[in-house]
Amino acid sequence: MGGLRQRRERLREGIVAGNSRGVDRQHTLGKHTARERLEQLLDEDSFTEIDMYRRNQEGGDDAPHTDGVVAGSGEIDGRRVFVYAQDFAIFGGSLGEAHASKIHKVMDLAIATGAPIIALNDSGGARIQEGVMALHGYGGIFRRNVEAAGVVPQISVVLGPCAGGAAYSPALADFTFMVRDTAKMYLTGPDVVEAVNGERVSHEELGGADVHGSRSGVATVVYDDEDSCLEDVRFLVSMLPDNNLEPAPRAERCGAATDDRPRLAEIVPVEPNQPYDMREVVGELVDDGEFFEVHETWARNVICGLARIDGEVVGVVGNQPMVLAGVLDRTASQKAARFVRFCDAFSIPLVTLVDVPGFLPGTEQEHAGIIRHGAQLLYAYCEATVPRIQVIVRKAYGGAYIVMDSRSIGADLSLAWPTNEIAVMGAEGAVNVLYRKDLAVAADPDERRKELVTEYTERLMHPHFAAERGLVDDVIDPVETRSAVARGLAVLRDKRKHSPQRKHGTIPL
Ligand code: COA
Repeated sequence: MGGLRQRRERLREGIVAGNSRGVDRQHTLGKHTARERLEQLLDEDSFTEIDMYRRNQEGGDDAPHTDGVVAGSGEIDGRRVFVYAQDFAIFGGSLGEAHASKIHKVMDLAIATGAPIIALNDSGGARIQEGVMALHGYGGIFRRNVEAAGVVPQISVVLGPCAGGAAYSPALADFTFMVRDTAKMYLTGPDVVEAVNGERVSHEELGGADVHGSRSGVATVVYDDEDSCLEDVRFLVSMLPDNNLEPAPRAERCGAATDDRPRLAEIVPVEPNQPYDMREVVGELVDDGEFFEVHETWARNVICGLARIDGEVVGVVGNQPMVLAGVLDRTASQKAARFVRFCDAFSIPLVTLVDVPGFLPGTEQEHAGIIRHGAQLLYAYCEATVPRIQVIVRKAYGGAYIVMDSRSIGADLSLAWPTNEIAVMGAEGAVNVLYRKDLAVAADPDERRKELVTEYTERLMHPHFAAERGLVDDVIDPVETRSAVARGLAVLRDKRKHSPQRKHGTIPL
């Protein structure tokens, strides 16, 4: 038995000591080795490795064990997760047949046992010398990513290069974490780009963390270093259910959300066009102000993230009046649609904070398909069967009002602050359409316009108009919003909704 233990120890060390050049290289670049990363991610002594002996069969006795990926299961705050960490110190973490089949194995185990999958990527991509077998290995990962989608949460952490086909696994995951300066994702690297387009671009400019965090929307969250990145993976896992049949972990805070939040009455200006930061509203509504925001720097006119209210995990979606006045545009619609679908798949209730002037007008948006992308958000909300609470904090105009989880598309509870304005459009715009002829012949058109605006505002935009017609369930004092939402969540906790059987819907992608 002593021999076995020593051999296992040697194998484990071999990955580090036997590749001192590769290990030093990782450390020089500010990166950790695969095993160091797993130690940091998982609870102490909780990692159970599989396939430590696995190696490339054609490489003979010199072929390194593990084949460049450390795989197995471990625990985060005592809850089981399946993990794999690519080891750049071996074959540049490139993916060959053995490497891929180890990943397949942990993904299969995660799906079979209903536990989250966490991938730590750091790889030169398909192992060139293994040819089509490497590509076959990637296909097997993507197929399993899709099989696992909506069954177990999938988190992909990019901690080094992730090039070519390799980029598609993080793209299929529910959450993609990236680290500045070291993580790079692209389908074709700078050399190929230059050869094909003549365009000269650096690795960072082409596919660095900030590019994917703020321009492409591929990265869900971006960090300055690996330590804070892996710490936040643990935080995220603390809010996710193990699988689609389990509820998200509830924190012990029952009844704590009965308190008033006076700040809520101060954050939102009464004037409909004054900007403010919707994140401040979120900070007052959720437990301890803790908000795991996704896509913070992409499509910033809408905010999405996970938080807890009275201990219960919720998905928060909100318009952001501080950016583009909080309009919905193409990317904001896509961002919110994806988030809504994730929450729905994993039984996480939705709280939607509405302050929206409409959809962004213009040829750029129309020609690029704002109708199609807006339809995705509409579709996502319409099909969501989780508890859904809408809070109209100021204004809600036109199609954007409908899309932002109005009662008409299935919100279970709609609450509005007393200053709310819900209408087809703002008063000025409405008067110009309705009374164009009247204004053209008026002796004093400006005076007449003022009169008509006042008349329209008083008749159609008064705060209780929607409530009197049942489209808003209650008009509440802003300071009571946190307790009202907490009560709503408690009431809706056992919500059940069955849809007609079908293979799957036809979301307009
Ligand atoms: N297949 C086989 N080996 C690979 C590899 C791959 N796809 N990618 C990297 N490696 C090996 C390198 O040969 C090198 O081996 P060595 O230490 O024995 O010399 C080691 O991994 C480290 O790679 P290196 O190129 O020195 O690292 P780098 O940090 O300078 O560059 C990359 C990293 C990813 C940019 C670069 O390795 C690269 O371009 N790799 C190929 C990417 C690709 O086109 N993949 C296929 C498409 S899916």
